[in-house]
Amino acid sequence: MTTTDSALPDTALPDTGLPDTADTSSPAALASVVPNVADAQLEREILRRRTFAIISHPDAGKTTITEKLLLYGGAIQQAGSVTAREGMRHTTSDWMSIEQQRGISISSSALTFEYAGRHINLLDTPGHQDFSEDTYRTLTAADSALMVLDAARGVQAQTEKLFAVCRNRGIPILTFINKMDRPAVDPFELLEQVESTLGIAAIPLTWPIGDGPDFKGVYDLQAKQVLVFERTARGKQRAPVQVAGLHDPELHRLVGADLAAKLRQDVELIEGAMDAFDQNAFLSGELTPVFFGSAMNNFGVEHFLSRFVDLAPPPGPTETNLGERDPEAPFAGFIFKLQANMSKAHRDRTAYMRVMSGHFARGMDVTHTRTGRKLRLSQAHTLFAQDREKVEDAYPGDIVGLVNPGVFQIGDVISLDARLHLPGFPRFTPETFATLSLRDVGKRKAFMKGLTQLAEEGVVQVFYPTDGARDPYLGAVGPLQFEVFQARLAEEYSVEVEMHLTSYELVRWLAGDTASVARFARHVEDDQGRPVMLFRSSYDLDYTQQQHPEIEFLPLPKDLTRV
Ligand code: G4P
Repeated sequence: MTTTDSALPDTALPDTGLPDTADTSSPAALASVVPNVADAQLEREILRRRTFAIISHPDAGKTTITEKLLLYGGAIQQAGSVTAREGMRHTTSDWMSIEQQRGISISSSALTFEYAGRHINLLDTPGHQDFSEDTYRTLTAADSALMVLDAARGVQAQTEKLFAVCRNRGIPILTFINKMDRPAVDPFELLEQVESTLGIAAIPLTWPIGDGPDFKGVYDLQAKQVLVFERTARGKQRAPVQVAGLHDPELHRLVGADLAAKLRQDVELIEGAMDAFDQNAFLSGELTPVFFGSAMNNFGVEHFLSRFVDLAPPPGPTETNLGERDPEAPFAGFIFKLQANMSKAHRDRTAYMRVMSGHFARGMDVTHTRTGRKLRLSQAHTLFAQDREKVEDAYPGDIVGLVNPGVFQIGDVISLDARLHLPGFPRFTPETFATLSLRDVGKRKAFMKGLTQLAEEGVVQVFYPTDGARDPYLGAVGPLQFEVFQARLAEEYSVEVEMHLTSYELVRWLAGDTASVARFARHVEDDQGRPVMLFRSSYDLDYTQQQHPEIEFLPLPKDLTRV
């Protein structure tokens, strides 16, 4: 979208004095002109950051695990009750399911808590029961992912899709097999499923002792300790954990002779037949360490967290047009999510920025590299429910909410170095298309505003007929995005629309000699005015392509890349 000076009342500022071409690629080059925290402190803060997201099929227990992680991280005091402890820092948006299901106030897209000296940022992958572009984008801001599986169901369709995105990005994945207090699939079979369906080695770090009503706990294969499961009132307190050795006679007493013998047998098999855990293979995405537990019963989650902080990587380099940018380089961040109307108290737009390098200090002067504009980042904040807290400092891996006066687009970079861009930010080719009609034509102005803002967030993509006479087409990766669009238009802009799915299935951006396309009815333009054509089938596309060899038909605009 275009940016005008009037759109920048708070952030526009005179030139910083730094030439756009200044060499800002190293701390040394910048030290004389830009205030920066001491290198040692930056290094320390980077090393203690862990930024991750949870991926799972709906119902596997993502919400419950999140809640328990917050409990152990001290961010909430008692799961199922409320609430924020002072000092908890976070940014906002739609941690809807926790709020709705549990009646607690955790409205956030990045929850932050401290555990064992680590600063943990947990990113919400949106609570939609369908896959969406939003989820993919959020994963671009994570350094690792926790895959949660339901022990009775194993790998499910949604897990596969989300897993593929993590795989694509090469981020390390940890696995938590949840609901062991229910009858479960045999653990060896679950590991086999992960390996065969997802194509990644699954190496257990803990091993379940029984399942369902006989679930007695887990054996820590590295520490060679037994963590005994005791049922507690649902999620109300930390589960007591006793520890004994595998050959400790105490084990019989704790889990019974049969399960003790089975455990010894299983462990023998694991130690004899499976590869040992290899940290490098995990970091390169070839292996996933597997934990077992029961989040609802608080069991295994803290143990997981205590291992996670050592296993999961701190922020690493980011691929940019100028090569890999180390987190120690001067400040740069990228926008991975936009959201309008997050709270009724603040009806504005927020851009979510992940710090990719350097120290972020509120009020610092940076360049918005797509437009070349200078910005002063004085409007940086976290959000908690309806309240906002200012963010004074942030480090690589942290998520900062920036007030967005219409400047930012997803994938934008803000940086001390005006030349920096992210060429590989994921964009998606829509696969389903709808038209819509306005119930009250008097609401056209509010409708256009909602359409523009929601499209900018990536809720849907908009395609405009070139004759201007008809309503636009909406494109989405999954049809659920249309429902979200419709609901948000009603809720946030008071505009009711009817949506009509079309028979179009494919979209292609056009390049080359496009003079002849004007005569096609299905010729449209995207929100940047690029020529686009819709097709009903791949046959339709192939035929048109044969008829018009002078035109290139591209799954995305030529200047964008695809995941
Ligand atoms: P999601 O965010 O991945 O969709 O899953 P969520 O945590 O909401 O969990 C889905 C259901 O599974 C919830 O039950 C939750 O209580 C239950 N659950 C989560 N972890 C465990 C576990 O370790 N053991 C068992 N037995 N159940 C577990 P619900 O009936 O949908 O909701 P609720 O009424 O319990 O809140």
